[in-house]
Amino acid sequence: MPLRDGFDRVIDYLRISVTDRCNLRCIYCMPAAGIKPVQHKEILTYEEIVRVVRIASNLGVRKVRITGGEPLARKNVTFLIGAIREISAIEDISLTTNGILLQEYADELADAGLDRVNISLDSLKPERYREITRGGEIDRVINGIEAAKEAGLLPIKINVVPVRGLNDDEIGQFAKMTADTPYHVRFIEFMPIGATDFWNEGKYISTDEIRSAVEEVGPLFPVKLRKNGPARYFRFENAPGVIGFISALTHHFCGDCNRLRLTADGRLRPCLFSETEIDLKPALRDRSSDRELERLLRLSVEVKPEGHNLGQRRALFSLRAMSRIGG
Ligand code: GTP
Ligand code: 5AD
Ligand code: SF4
Repeated sequence: MPLRDGFDRVIDYLRISVTDRCNLRCIYCMPAAGIKPVQHKEILTYEEIVRVVRIASNLGVRKVRITGGEPLARKNVTFLIGAIREISAIEDISLTTNGILLQEYADELADAGLDRVNISLDSLKPERYREITRGGEIDRVINGIEAAKEAGLLPIKINVVPVRGLNDDEIGQFAKMTADTPYHVRFIEFMPIGATDFWNEGKYISTDEIRSAVEEVGPLFPVKLRKNGPARYFRFENAPGVIGFISALTHHFCGDCNRLRLTADGRLRPCLFSETEIDLKPALRDRSSDRELERLLRLSVEVKPEGHNLGQRRALFSLRAMSRIGG
């Protein structure tokens, strides 16, 4: 029996943030000084995470994504991947990373059983990349993408957040990458969420506008991908790569949302944009039974809201920082 929420959506995808720490400080995500990290003892151990995944898989979860902060900044993530791989009901294990450490870890991640990676990259210009991430070296990311490809962590998805006046002049360049590489380049609408006040209406670019910039390169043809998620996909004629648009603000995809999130400090978060969270940590740490954890998992699915109203309510900075939720 799959897990179904109150709006008849099947919940089969768990996104797990393994750390709220990050080795970058992207200007739209964090203040320059970073944010106060959650104390070490509050962070779930890998054993605790694996237990949650095992119980969730008994309830019908089939896909797991490891996120952060920066997941590769936590020691020994490979161990976690390996342990999740042993849970036979889990069909797809992926990881969202900024790519800085990917060069070092791609092979061992693949060996441990990771299926694929999504990599955040907001500029192709070294100077600008350094400015946006406050110090990141783009060469490391490019080498990381290459290493992931060699290791077979496919398909490789590259996440770009276009921000007006910052990198919007590079939309065409990013789109062109798909003409000669198999990458999925996905443009994400800049959302009013993060631990900074960097977002404003003027910097926000709608998917329609991003798409027009892409179409200046050439006409787009729709692509039907089996696992669609929140992105809508297209490609240039005969291109090996695909172009995706994730329109959190303008096009609602809440109707087919299949996800549940687990924060690094052990809270189940049924919706990225809702503050409702169910704390699993007390149950995990007071020797509660699997049945009790199962009950809490079901409860979090029951309270999953139907959708968000970000389109109308455009200031959500009080929300947990993105780095604490894992995107
Ligand atoms: P796959 O489609 O499985 O590859 O993963 P994904 O696109 O869900 O994962 P990724 O971590 O690469 O997320 C890309 C962007 O989509 C991030 O900016 C997320 O915040 C955003 N996103 C992911 N899930 C949701 C969601 O449930 N709602 C909204 N509005 N945005 C989401
Ligand atoms: N709006 C859109 N995307 C964001 N991300 C982080 N903060 C925001 C935001 N405010 C993206 C990162 C990464 C993904 C996990 O979330 O760029 O690709
Ligand atoms: Fe780190 Fe991702 Fe936030 Fe950038 S957007 S600072 S890579 S958590």
